[in-house]
Amino acid sequence: MDTILIIDDDEYTREFIYMYLTDLKYKVLLAGTGTEGIKIISETTPDLIITDLRMPDMTGIDVLQKAREIDPSIQVLLITAFEDMQSIIKAMQMGAYDYIEKPLEIELFGHTIKRALESKKLSERMAISIFEDTKDIKLGDSIVGKTPAIKQIFKKIGKISNSKVNVLIQGESGTGKELITKVIHHTGVTKNQPLVAVNCTALTESLLESELFGHVKGAFTGAIRDKKGKFELAEEGTVFLDEISEISTKLQAKLLRVLQEKEFERVGGESTIPMKARIIAATNKNLAELVESGQFREDLFYRLKVFTIEVPPLRERKEDIPDLVVHFLKKINRDLHKNVRKITYEAMELLQNYNWVGNVRELENTLLQAVVLANGNVVEKEHILLHSNSHIISGNDVNLSLAQIEAVHIKRVLEKVNWEKKKALEILGISKPTLNSKIKEYKIERVSNIAD
Ligand SMILES: Nc1ncnc2c1ncn2[C@@H]1O[C@H](COP(=O)(O)OP(=O)(O)OP(=O)(O)O)[C@@H](O)[C@H]1O
Ligand SMILES: [Mg+2]
Repeated sequence: MDTILIIDDDEYTREFIYMYLTDLKYKVLLAGTGTEGIKIISETTPDLIITDLRMPDMTGIDVLQKAREIDPSIQVLLITAFEDMQSIIKAMQMGAYDYIEKPLEIELFGHTIKRALESKKLSERMAISIFEDTKDIKLGDSIVGKTPAIKQIFKKIGKISNSKVNVLIQGESGTGKELITKVIHHTGVTKNQPLVAVNCTALTESLLESELFGHVKGAFTGAIRDKKGKFELAEEGTVFLDEISEISTKLQAKLLRVLQEKEFERVGGESTIPMKARIIAATNKNLAELVESGQFREDLFYRLKVFTIEVPPLRERKEDIPDLVVHFLKKINRDLHKNVRKITYEAMELLQNYNWVGNVRELENTLLQAVVLANGNVVEKEHILLHSNSHIISGNDVNLSLAQIEAVHIKRVLEKVNWEKKKALEILGISKPTLNSKIKEYKIERVSNIAD
């Protein structure tokens, strides 16, 4: 029999709920003050607590907090006499199951209680525990996974991190190329040296050139003083060239020279500077194909690919999903000060069966959203929002309406440009008001990336 504790200073409400719930065959305990309630909770750990929000000695939120400390699996329902937005938000943030308004609508009330108890049982029976204690877990830059493909990557990192061989990392977007770069850098000979990253798509050719090589005063308008480029700033560390496929033909030639001769000059400069850093280049394109079609220099490609790491898409290593889920939930708990301790089997199954076009990054964002939506300490199926349409555009699905495709595409673009609307407008070729109204119409929401 489920035990329900009612805490309310109003005797009438207490008696009323008592009669109603004993009729429904629940075991009911009563407390007239918060203090009395807490005492009962610590002695008997009920399954559900129904507490009034405003009481003379303490608030329902205080009760909720204490109950959470005693046993985080106890469900808590709050009763409020009036809509108090702040308290409701606070209560939900702290993991209340729901709140109910006075006067009680008895049928709704009964229904909510039933759901709360069911949800508790579901999470007890069907949940995978995430962890016992996260306080001292180090979650820095660790690559999670134990499939052969990932172990192969560990091995390769081990082989190269103590030399300064250049590395090419290929893999779809969100597979972990940047993470692998950090791990290579931080585990080997370069670890006490700088790691500098350059995104090759973010800048125009001449800006990128000066970013990489530096420039001397007067090299071009605006070059008001000498400036070191990333190759110099990296000292004896690592230069991470992200999206290497995007560099222009001219810069490809200059980069080739850096790789061959291990030296370069600043833009407009005379003196030759030795290149001491290691280059790690990443791409989500197939460089071999770009060489084939003449968009990427073959000699540069051969120089870069001496040591290659191929990162497989997440859908090809689904066995790693549970480990990744646990890893990210810990990380999200820590970052958002949450206390999610379990995920139901159903939810995990959903995650394992999904296609993950956005790879690990998409998984991470989905979990972030799930943690925000889960108001208790359990992630359930309902909290997992999958953009199951997002992979369809490139596929052969002809059952989508234009509006659906439009919504998915806009979302994708916004995520790609990190919600910099100005950039999104350029790509989409629409005006700002149009973009804003579409975001509203399709209810497109930002899923923030908490990676760094
Ligand atoms: N195996 C993994 N274990 C733990 N976290 C991972 C793993 N792979 C990726 N991540 C995380 O997923 C997110 C995306 O990874 P990352 O930025 O390295 O991808 P990327 O390949 O560089 O993507 P893009 O091509 O879009 O730049 C990061 O937060 C990263 O820490
Ligand atoms: Mg990246």
